[in-house]
Amino acid sequence: MSLSPPLKAPSVQAMSHIADWAEKVARELLKEELQRRWAHSQGVAAQAASLADILGEQADLIVAAAWLHDIGYSPAVAATGFHPLDGARYLRDVRHAGTRLCRLVAHHSCALIEAEERGLAGVLLAEFEPERPELADALTYCDMTTGPDGRHLTVEERLAEIRTRYGRGHIVDRSIERATPRIKNAARAITGRLRRYPTNGVPEFCR
Ligand SMILES: [Fe+2]
Repeated sequence: MSLSPPLKAPSVQAMSHIADWAEKVARELLKEELQRRWAHSQGVAAQAASLADILGEQADLIVAAAWLHDIGYSPAVAATGFHPLDGARYLRDVRHAGTRLCRLVAHHSCALIEAEERGLAGVLLAEFEPERPELADALTYCDMTTGPDGRHLTVEERLAEIRTRYGRGHIVDRSIERATPRIKNAARAITGRLRRYPTNGVPEFCR
């Protein structure tokens, strides 16, 4: 796979194009070699785009993070084998992406819990601070309501799918078990915000 020269992240002035840039980077890294991850990433990005009303000016950032959250699985990116850390380091060091985008990828879907299981929590936190909870929740919601083929799932279906795929006792299974309450809380927070902000209507909090 040809990856050079890497497409650098847009400047702060061009932040409105960050999601377009992120899609190109994810496509380059996933589409050929990891087709299912690519399908999943497309679904997660679509889910993120559907949250535009409640995310406001943060929508582009979250859509970008949705495109990029799993690039750490790419053979061109993987280093430690812990994909949130590998993806965030790649974005920071190779693509010169913004701090907030790197933080979102590093901590997506309660990654800190799996980092603890892998003995990488100190490294993860030293390099990438967690992002604001409401933004982290939005990305968690998008990832945890999208199946491996990109189709929409309930959070319960998604959690069960992951645990079945990895198998009982696997480090991912143990991590997901520990993360389940936080993932469900994140999903509840986002669905609550969506209910208060119906599409084509006046938000409940503005009435
Ligand atoms: Fe994902």
